[in-house]
Amino acid sequence: MISLLSLSQQASVWLGVIFGLLIVAEFCYIGYILYTSHRKPRNPRQKNETATEFGLTDSSRNLENAPKYILNVRDLKQWFPVSKSMFGKVQAYLRAVDGVSFDLERGKTIGIVGESGCGKTTLGRTILRLYDITEGSAIYTDENGKEYELAKLKRKELRPLRTQLQLVFQDPYSSLPPRMTVGAIIGEAVKVHHIVPKEQIHDYVLEVMRRCGLQPHYYDRYPHEFSGGQRQRICIARALAVKPNLVICDEPVSALDVSIQAQVINLLKKLQREMGISYMFISHDLSVVKYISDSIAVMYLGNIVEMGSTADICGNASHPYTQALFSAVPVPNPHRKAKPEELSGELPSPANPPKGCKFHTRCKYCMERCSESVPEMREISAGHFVACHLFDENLDDAEVSSTEHNEQEA
Ligand SMILES: Nc1ncnc2c1ncn2[C@@H]1O[C@H](COP(=O)(O)OP(=O)(O)OP(=O)(O)O)[C@@H](O)[C@H]1O
Ligand code: SF4
Ligand SMILES: [Mg+2]
Repeated sequence: MISLLSLSQQASVWLGVIFGLLIVAEFCYIGYILYTSHRKPRNPRQKNETATEFGLTDSSRNLENAPKYILNVRDLKQWFPVSKSMFGKVQAYLRAVDGVSFDLERGKTIGIVGESGCGKTTLGRTILRLYDITEGSAIYTDENGKEYELAKLKRKELRPLRTQLQLVFQDPYSSLPPRMTVGAIIGEAVKVHHIVPKEQIHDYVLEVMRRCGLQPHYYDRYPHEFSGGQRQRICIARALAVKPNLVICDEPVSALDVSIQAQVINLLKKLQREMGISYMFISHDLSVVKYISDSIAVMYLGNIVEMGSTADICGNASHPYTQALFSAVPVPNPHRKAKPEELSGELPSPANPPKGCKFHTRCKYCMERCSESVPEMREISAGHFVACHLFDENLDDAEVSSTEHNEQEA
């Protein structure tokens, strides 16, 4: 009887142990399921939705209801002091940007063209507030409709905007830190600005690299191990990683071969389609700008002289300076002779610009009024603006014939 009792006691103890083990196993199993469902794959290629998950596609952005314009620039000036009196008073300024106005639509590209020294880089850097703005306004509007007057923001107020407004430089050689790996270069700002949780940075950087056409095994390599085109892709990936709204591309392809230029431009266009980014694309090369831009602004000595849609500027260039720039573009036709001589003479100094129309010292249509008064910006067709006295309403026949005479002489 006693042995029967002890046997049943032992059985119940064992049953209790087995039951307890089953419960523990069940908890472990549930824990494992939860862990695997939240874990991200090490290699983003294993999962197609990674880009969407990381918010790198337009589906995650509220762009449909966003305001039409991302940037409105009005009469922007950037004057650099060039000489001072012995008491420190500024005596002369170099007018690098001298009253520039334009609007940029969200998700579109404006091309800024002009000769070397006309103020393109200064314009871009001034908008990004890398310089304090001398005068005028630059209003950036985010996708939620919040407006920021960049000219008035203090350094501290600008900091949160640094991720939304990015710059891609011309020189991919000097703009990458040589002692950092590609992964560290792209991941640095992601970490600083908390773009994704810390444990996701590695996968996020791999995904950004994939989108920019960079192989995953480049992650641990150094900038000197890459070609110019690949380095520019790294620069683009670095700018893109912080999910910007506006990217100012300052001659991003000028240092590259023609075939690599096309690859980088196609990459920028693809990223724009996927992420809804707006670009301000600076270049001295009209053939490049024409390919990527929705609208074009032509700059001369710190001012915009002609502005309109790409079709307007390329199909109906109306300012003598724009026409001269086009004449200097090589034509892929052996029977058509390029006439680069149309743009003669040197660019005058922005520290001492010519009076009246700043282009009058080089213009073959120059009239008397050109050296006396500054031409106003006129809308010659819907959305196509030109600043030239040839479009003045009160131009008389004598002046028209004088321009024809000048043209023949030239
Ligand atoms: N920090 C500065 N201080 C003084 N002058 C400057 C400064 N930065 C630019 N400039 C002058 O402003 C003018 C415009 O320069 P900017 O670099 O904007 O021209 P750019 O159109 O970008 O030329 P490029 O096509 O050669 O890059 C030039 O005359 C230049 O010397
Ligand atoms: S305003 Fe006169 S000088 Fe200037 S671009 Fe026109 S025609 Fe030439
Ligand atoms: Mg420049």
